[in-house]
Amino acid sequence: MFVKRIQRLPKKVNKLLHCASKTAHTSRVRIYLVGGIVRDLILGKSNLDLDIVVEGDAISFAKCVSHTLGVTFRTHHAFGTATIYCKDFKVDLATARKESYSRWGALPSVTPATVREDLFRRDFTINAMAVSLNKDDYGSLIDFYEGYQDLRRGVIRVLHPNSFLDDPTRIFRSIKFETRFSFHIERRTLRLLKKALRLKALSWVGEHRLRDELMGILREKKPYKYIKRINELVGFKFMHHAIHLRREDFYLLLRIANTITMYKEKFKKHRKLQEPMVYLMALIHRLIPQDVSHFSHRFGLRKGERILLVSTVVYKDKIKKLKKRNSSKVALFKLLKGVSFETIIFFYAYYKDKKIRHLLRYFLGHLSSLKLKTKAKDLRKFEVLPERKYSKVLTKLLYRKIEKNLLTKKEELAELKKILKYQLI
Ligand code: CTP
Repeated sequence: MFVKRIQRLPKKVNKLLHCASKTAHTSRVRIYLVGGIVRDLILGKSNLDLDIVVEGDAISFAKCVSHTLGVTFRTHHAFGTATIYCKDFKVDLATARKESYSRWGALPSVTPATVREDLFRRDFTINAMAVSLNKDDYGSLIDFYEGYQDLRRGVIRVLHPNSFLDDPTRIFRSIKFETRFSFHIERRTLRLLKKALRLKALSWVGEHRLRDELMGILREKKPYKYIKRINELVGFKFMHHAIHLRREDFYLLLRIANTITMYKEKFKKHRKLQEPMVYLMALIHRLIPQDVSHFSHRFGLRKGERILLVSTVVYKDKIKKLKKRNSSKVALFKLLKGVSFETIIFFYAYYKDKKIRHLLRYFLGHLSSLKLKTKAKDLRKFEVLPERKYSKVLTKLLYRKIEKNLLTKKEELAELKKILKYQLI
């Protein structure tokens, strides 16, 4: 019985589950917790992504529960699903369904089913267990496919031979769970995975779905472990035909991990990094800018992400030149001011040269968030100065601040007077 484990979930979650259970009883439908949350309850890992399967109409059921609790919900009629939003967690509800595929890799056609059939359509046995939320057997584990045993033995196993062909993104999911939990992919499952690769199953899937899986993996802790395993089993040609990781790239991935840790420790006031993007840079850094742009479009990366990746490739040589040049602080500022922190972190890990690393770190620590204390309104006092020149003057002043290490507003204003006096603009 899993009652105790469920009770260990936060109070607010238990409140919702009890309300759902009561509603199910009065509406004469049966409901179950399913998928990742059940797996993580058994493993004792925290997870607040709740999935409930309803043997009945999930949408009207979700409506009843959210009305009773006074919380919002959203329906997705096309999929027969609904989401209930509580303060800091959400619950996805779906009508129990079975799926049939007209051809491999196509989106499935869906018909209502029992929980047993619903569990059978899932990716791996460890994700195909349910916990009853029904009054008569609340908290009992439903495990038709030996998921519990596989979880205990650390095995990733598909439920049927067509699993990877029906949904090739499961190739990456198997690697994700194997690596996340230090499990192993069972022998027959590995054979099926390789068969799916031989049949070029990845080419049937929409690239956006591949992107979602890949980005999910890059958000895991220690993404380099996952990248290494993907490289062993799949390679990275599914992203772009010219991506071929070399031995040194794996050292680079490790250095990226260390650099991200350094960033988090030393630059606590800086914004949070989009860490997956830094790892993505390590995968694409040898491509030419046009290929990066092309790849980003195909994978449906957002505009900002695309710019980030392309600019990284473009900046590779510019940053390399820091090694030779005796750059002033202002020149360093001018070079890096438009460059994202992700790109700087990437190059800090990429270049082993001490001078380059020192300059990048200096920029991060001293220049990247440098701002003038003097504002445009302070310039109004200088009536001789036309407004159209404000921005130019302020930029000049900022460069002086960097050069001369001006700290106070008083120092800045004194410098401003000099700039204006000698007409240095
Ligand atoms: N699922 C599946 N095939 C997929 C994706 C999902 O069968 N390609 C099923 C699995 O039962 C899975 C559930 O849907 O457990 C929910 O999927 P997801 O939201 O991706 O969550 P988790 O399995 O919990 O994965 P994670 O811990 O990474 O969130």
